[in-house]
Amino acid sequence: MADLSGPTASLALGTWSHHREGEPREAGSGAVEQGPVIELHAAGKTYRTGSVEFEALRGVDLAIRQGEYVAIMGPSGSGKSTLMNILGCLDVLTTGQYRLAGDDVGDLDEEDLAAIRNHQIGFVFQQFHLLPSLSAWRNVELPLTYRRVPADERRARATAALERVGLGDRLANRPGELSGGQQQRVAVARALVGEPAMILADEPTGNLDSASTEDVLGLFDDLHAQGRTIVLITHELEVAERARRIVRVRDGLIQSDTLTSGVAA
Ligand SMILES: Nc1ncnc2c1ncn2[C@@H]1O[C@H](COP(=O)(O)OP(=O)(O)OP(=O)(O)O)[C@@H](O)[C@H]1O
Ligand SMILES: [Mg+2]
Repeated sequence: MADLSGPTASLALGTWSHHREGEPREAGSGAVEQGPVIELHAAGKTYRTGSVEFEALRGVDLAIRQGEYVAIMGPSGSGKSTLMNILGCLDVLTTGQYRLAGDDVGDLDEEDLAAIRNHQIGFVFQQFHLLPSLSAWRNVELPLTYRRVPADERRARATAALERVGLGDRLANRPGELSGGQQQRVAVARALVGEPAMILADEPTGNLDSASTEDVLGLFDDLHAQGRTIVLITHELEVAERARRIVRVRDGLIQSDTLTSGVAA
């Protein structure tokens, strides 16, 4: 069993979907080839609405290595969320290829994709997407219920994740009883609780004030320092500059791909 969260982790995707909760994850043999974890080749995505087709991605080539912190920028409608949905295995390409940890995602069935989403990827969205009727800790433990993690362990891990985002005193509050920044921190805790190799965040600070933005970006800095791969979509240059690399998308194509100074981390 292996994952992608350590520097010597195996890149064999087949092991992702077969990892069982509670089993130790091997550090790897050390003789593992270190290719990019994300590889898009001539990636195209066409949406069909009735008889109307729209090419949201028009041949994107992109490689992201394990542990990279990448910001995606671009105008509204340029294809950023489409790209994130593809990277997160929430949607599939129309043309081209997506290789994740060396394996062609196009060859995987829905069960494999669901396992990848649940075990390997933590999602954070602009609108938080928390369940309003559930307390903070029940929202956070939810991804673990799909893995058949025992209740005691779920509770302990959800509590630890909420403590990590500074909400140890808000475990029982529902989303409606929390500020926007606190709700987004709950969402980050939910993304973290499964210890994913990769965090995909679509405008995670888009609805936050500057103090809450700083809280969330500080959490991402920590995750990056721990070796997680982070892909963060943002409209704000200040936010993007927290990443090490900025990929700009325009009209479904990559317009530029530059390294930042990374001073903000
Ligand atoms: N399910 C869909 N069906 C049809 N068209 C879609 C669908 N999803 C997105 N699109 C179109 O694809 C294009 C890219 O959308 P996308 O959501 O990726 O943009 P974005 O860069 O994330 O924009 P924003 O910054 O506003 O979030 C847009 O023109 C959008 O209208
Ligand atoms: Mg979007």
